[in-house]
Amino acid sequence: MGSPRCGKFITLEGVDGAGKSTHLDYIADRIRARGVELVVTREPGGTPLGEKLRALLLNDSMQPDTELMLMYAARAEHVAALIRPALARGAWVLSDRFSDASHAYQCGGRGIDAGRLQALEDWTLAGFKPDLTLLFDVSAEVAESRRSLARTADRFEQEQAAFFTRVRDAYLQRARSEPGRIRVVDASRSIEAIRGELDRLLEGL
Ligand code: TMP
Repeated sequence: MGSPRCGKFITLEGVDGAGKSTHLDYIADRIRARGVELVVTREPGGTPLGEKLRALLLNDSMQPDTELMLMYAARAEHVAALIRPALARGAWVLSDRFSDASHAYQCGGRGIDAGRLQALEDWTLAGFKPDLTLLFDVSAEVAESRRSLARTADRFEQEQAAFFTRVRDAYLQRARSEPGRIRVVDASRSIEAIRGELDRLLEGL
């Protein structure tokens, strides 16, 4: 469905504190070094409307179903207005989070029934998925200690440790069910070791 897809779509995932943002610039540099156009974006956000929804999602209190629907509203806009057009013209897209985050946070973390999410996903994405998802994984303890270094915590970062354990478990379960697309990167290692693995995984594309 939608426009033809020539470029590659790569997403980065992980619990808050896993360190994925540390690696985003490195990955972007490696892709650009190949001479391809790269669009770097994020979720929630990535479009003017999506960034407004992001501010609501990160700061305003709301019901879990409201949160889920706003995530998918922002995503529908993001895919139609930015991601698909970029892929169609041959650009690569690197997104800091995408739909796997909703499975992990809204279903795993918040406990929303997977069928409700699937209905929204079928509607808004119609099977559209990343070509490669890098799941940065660390233990709950490491993630928590890294989060505590952040200056101000948003609405998600203020959650208890048990919430992040559920989010991590949901991410890992998803990775087990789609091992070809979702590659788990042990993010507790040194930056050099992680970069070496990222190089290998990107080479595969
Ligand atoms: P970030 O801190 O990685 O920019 O992400 C913002 C927060 O939004 C993060 O705590 C995870 C959360 N989130 C969800 O709960 N569901 C989603 O679908 C996405 C994309 C993010």
